[in-house]
Amino acid sequence: MDENRTISPQVKSEEVVLDRALRPQYLDDLIGQERVKENLRILIEAAKGRGEALEHTLFYGPPGLGKTTLAHIIANEMGASIRVTAGPAIERAGDLAAILSNLHQNEILFIDEVHRLGKVVEEILYPAMEDFALDLVIGQGPGARTVRLSLPHFTVVGATTRLALLSAPLRTRFGAIYRLDFYNQEALSQIVTRAAYALNVPMNEAGCEEIARRGRGTPRVALRLLRRVRDYAQVRADGTITGAVADEALALLEIDNQGLDNLDRRVLHAIIEKFAGGPVGLDTIAASIGEAPDTIMDVVEPYLLQLGFIDRTPRGRIATKLAYEHLDIPYEQLEQGTLF
Ligand SMILES: Nc1ncnc2c1ncn2[C@@H]1O[C@H](COP(=O)(O)OP(=O)(O)O)[C@@H](O)[C@H]1O
Ligand SMILES: [Mg+2]
Repeated sequence: MDENRTISPQVKSEEVVLDRALRPQYLDDLIGQERVKENLRILIEAAKGRGEALEHTLFYGPPGLGKTTLAHIIANEMGASIRVTAGPAIERAGDLAAILSNLHQNEILFIDEVHRLGKVVEEILYPAMEDFALDLVIGQGPGARTVRLSLPHFTVVGATTRLALLSAPLRTRFGAIYRLDFYNQEALSQIVTRAAYALNVPMNEAGCEEIARRGRGTPRVALRLLRRVRDYAQVRADGTITGAVADEALALLEIDNQGLDNLDRRVLHAIIEKFAGGPVGLDTIAASIGEAPDTIMDVVEPYLLQLGFIDRTPRGRIATKLAYEHLDIPYEQLEQGTLF
């Protein structure tokens, strides 16, 4: 009985396993991001042709678009092993020195949230990336000296949701920098179709479209919606995901027909109702609705910008006419309020 509950650990671990099975392994398996794939193919083929380690590569863009997936794909395509770490996990210079001195030739060092590396740690990384050298200080006081160790040629793959927070010296050490874009409807539909097939869930075209349309252009979100709709179909219907079933399930989750959830709508309502449509700074918006500025900056803002519901101005964010229309709030009337 218990195993059938959606929150039971067994179901969850099953999902983790399925997630791993669903994760694209090679560039050809990855749906969408055509420009990035094409560039990566050239980068990888050139490096392999010369028998060299791949250039240091940086991916940036909102969460859930495939940065981590691409890091693993690069390792697979290069036939190299991968070490996974993250900016906040490397606290001291010694932590990074230990990682670096254990790397192999051509190995991939994936650093997630690379904008969160500390300054001291970054300074170890510069010569390592540029000259494959590790500078160690031996001893203390006047007798201290620096020893330069040479490292095998390895590749840093970095990922960040905030390119702007990456220090300039670190950014320039990446030979290739790629922005990941939101996925279009068609690509998301393909991703959802493939996942439904792997999960063995019957789904018709209308059901798939409904999920893809509300997936915020983000594979992670679309796949999560697919799981929730699958639950709903199983419990409230005959197990098949149809347009109507998906619509009911997503309405229950309060995800509207543009993929906005509660938080997105609260942000828009705050801009419009508390700040007369803006301009207003993100921190102020975050404080006014009691949410973390990081969440709003990473998750909410990029999608609202993409939909054209907000605009960025030097003085802050403003809600556009489209946002008013979407929320069914008269535009003209409030626009006058922003004149002074
Ligand atoms: N192009 C894609 N095709 C299929 N699944 C994808 C694709 N991009 C991402 N995913 C899936 O979406 C989820 C989030 O991807 P991930 O690489 O972890 O994103 P990020 O690191 O950018 O936050 C993963 O489950 C991954 O398998
Ligand atoms: Mg990731």
